[in-house]
Amino acid sequence: MQYGYFDDAAKEYVITRADTPLPWINYLGSDGFFSLISNTCGGYSFYKDAKLRRITRFRYNNVPHDEGGRCFYVCDGDTVWSPAFLPAKTALDFYRCRHGLGYSVFEGNKNGVAASLTVTVPMHTDMEVQKLVLKNESGAEKKLTVYGVSEWCLWNAVDDSTNFQRNWNIGEVEIEGGTVYHKTEYRERRNHYAFYSVNAPIDGFDTDRDTFLGRFRGWSEPQAVENRTSFMSVAAGWAPIAALRLSLTLAPGESKTLLFRLGYVENPEDRKFESLNIINKEKAHAMLAAFDTEAQFDAALDALKTYWTSLLSRFTVQSSEEKLDRMVNIWNQYQCMVTFNMSRSASYYESGTGRGMGFRDSCQDLLGFVHLIPERARERIIDIASIQFADGSTYHQYQPLTKRGNADVGSGFNDDPLWLIACTCAYIRETGDFSILDEPTPFNNEAGTEVPLMEHLRRSLRYTVEHRGPHGLPLIGRADWNDCLNLNCFSRTPGESFQTCSNFKSGKAESVFIAGMFVKYGKEYAALCDRIGLSEEATDVRASVEEIEQATLKFGWDGEWFRRAYDAFERPIGSRENDEGKIFIEPQGFCVMAGIGGPEYGRRALASTEALLGNEFGIEVLHPCYTEYHDYLGEISSYPPGYKENGSVFCHNNPWITLAYCTVKDGNGAFGLYKRNAPAYIEDKSEIHRTEPYCYSQTIAGRDAKTYGEAKNAWLTGTAAWSFVAVSQGILGIRPDYNGLIVDPCLPDTMDGYRLSRLFRGTRYDVTVRRGEQKGLIVNGKPVPGNTVPLTDAPVCYVELTV
Ligand code: BGC
Repeated sequence: MQYGYFDDAAKEYVITRADTPLPWINYLGSDGFFSLISNTCGGYSFYKDAKLRRITRFRYNNVPHDEGGRCFYVCDGDTVWSPAFLPAKTALDFYRCRHGLGYSVFEGNKNGVAASLTVTVPMHTDMEVQKLVLKNESGAEKKLTVYGVSEWCLWNAVDDSTNFQRNWNIGEVEIEGGTVYHKTEYRERRNHYAFYSVNAPIDGFDTDRDTFLGRFRGWSEPQAVENRTSFMSVAAGWAPIAALRLSLTLAPGESKTLLFRLGYVENPEDRKFESLNIINKEKAHAMLAAFDTEAQFDAALDALKTYWTSLLSRFTVQSSEEKLDRMVNIWNQYQCMVTFNMSRSASYYESGTGRGMGFRDSCQDLLGFVHLIPERARERIIDIASIQFADGSTYHQYQPLTKRGNADVGSGFNDDPLWLIACTCAYIRETGDFSILDEPTPFNNEAGTEVPLMEHLRRSLRYTVEHRGPHGLPLIGRADWNDCLNLNCFSRTPGESFQTCSNFKSGKAESVFIAGMFVKYGKEYAALCDRIGLSEEATDVRASVEEIEQATLKFGWDGEWFRRAYDAFERPIGSRENDEGKIFIEPQGFCVMAGIGGPEYGRRALASTEALLGNEFGIEVLHPCYTEYHDYLGEISSYPPGYKENGSVFCHNNPWITLAYCTVKDGNGAFGLYKRNAPAYIEDKSEIHRTEPYCYSQTIAGRDAKTYGEAKNAWLTGTAAWSFVAVSQGILGIRPDYNGLIVDPCLPDTMDGYRLSRLFRGTRYDVTVRRGEQKGLIVNGKPVPGNTVPLTDAPVCYVELTV
């Protein structure tokens, strides 16, 4: 069953009913000011950091879940309704939500009035603008009362939801015409405020939430709205809001447009005030003036659309697979941008308060983003590397506002350092910018410790080589990619974090997955060394790779698949010797991609993977699921069977298997798996899958779950980047390399070829792949040996490949 449809021409997903199984959200903003917005207009905004600079309030454990956020009320006679259905909940005569790239449009009609609400964060603007058009489609004059409301968060989102003995005293606002300024804590140590404003004279306001709502009432039925009035309340502590009221008279056929603007301003320390405790509003005035007319708004929206069209044109494909094209050309790349911006911080599942930017997460997000805006990828690589420690290990996360490592989550995730090699190599292959390797980059953000980025990569690699266990395999540390396989944790205390507790220092638990990573990225590092003239180092690294590869073949191969790990007592995990958790997905993906054991082992591992882990939505993390808690395994065994790391389809690592299929040249296997969880392919199962059909989710409950097929944790997942890599570099086979563009497709029998346009180092490659007898690569009309299209200065390069 579907709740909407794709409009590919408009690059929109069109939701046709408000009661989607879960809130289906979108992201607005691209730089400093970000908003989450659901299909009923819920969500929240923040500036750069969803924990430290939250602008509007959202309650994750709210019932109903998605209420509040942006509240619009249209009062028409006895009826009060909201253009996006919530919060008024009045049944609409027509409802539609169009989520586009960086904007959302809500259309709601009631009793002859048509509302169209378009919400976006214009580029280079720290402000969300909400354009509300109301049209009288009835035959009689309409007298409407309209409210637009925002509830302020008191900046630090954790404090805001915990420290009430203070919070309920500090809220402060200023009101100036149709603008409410939120200035809590501005008098003392903050130099930033927010505002909510409408571009027309208001008839009244409220800034105290409880006055506006009235006793025993929620957002669906505020007292002020019921009375068609405003109480002109001025917040003093408690919960400050901005509720603006306007009256509109519309003749038959007439429409009026209002622009509501939610902005954020920072002032220099010496220019904070215009007079005693009155905030300096100069910047806010300028921002409002820039978005005071419909024409200004429309121009900004057009500019945003043009921007996205040009960004996406860097990689477009046309094939016989409409759904693949839709994912590749629009939604997968869009999600890559969102994960690049947010890492794992703010979604409807990530509260914005728990996790900042992950080291391994952001490194992987880059893999799907680097072709879009390489300059931003470059900056991010340096930010990430700057939280690394001098011994090559690293903090696991950092806060985006401060860019400092997050000590709460600590370090010791032994896969982390290797991801830095993965993303740096990907960046250089994309851009040819070797100069990034010379970029002075500190350790742990300490001034004076800067070394060239290359030295960070070197230490990453060395860290793995020097931290190995009894079988010569890399030590796992707190955990590797699978945060929940905690082999040194042994937690028996409720509430203890599995990720930071390690009370059993065996120094023995090893990861076959990290071994696979090391072999793959060690080879990439060696190739990089060769390119920059470090041939001795390349030889040394290859020797270490060989050593770990041999250890993997000896101790990591179980007979029909790769093992997962060795626990603290040197017992294998992910082996036929185990009763549960006999096979895991991660090492099958990485060891096969790394070429360990060649295509022969690869095919056998993949056959076992499919036979034991495959379901209709993809490949499960492990099998059989753990039915009991084992302290020597940690969090993984804490989940009920079929959920999360205990046997769901963890979408993040499914593309590793897709790529593994491509490594052994099995196009049917690769595409067969790709289709099973690519959102566009399962749109018609939305009532089972439940999350948005236009973006990947982190997990899909496995066969053992009570809700098999149900997805959770939409949007912020490494699935986005890896799926893009799998489809673009694996199935379609377009891979940037140091000295050219590799064209090496791995297509299923059902695809005859494709046409593709790829911007690479300033040249547009127009690629046609077809099947035929006369195999080979033709570049600008001339046959070229191999499958690498050499670099060129020409603006366009025509490539034909017959397979
Ligand atoms: C984390 C990843 C981790 C994955 C598997 C995600 O929630 O963001 O870093 O690899 O879970 O445990």
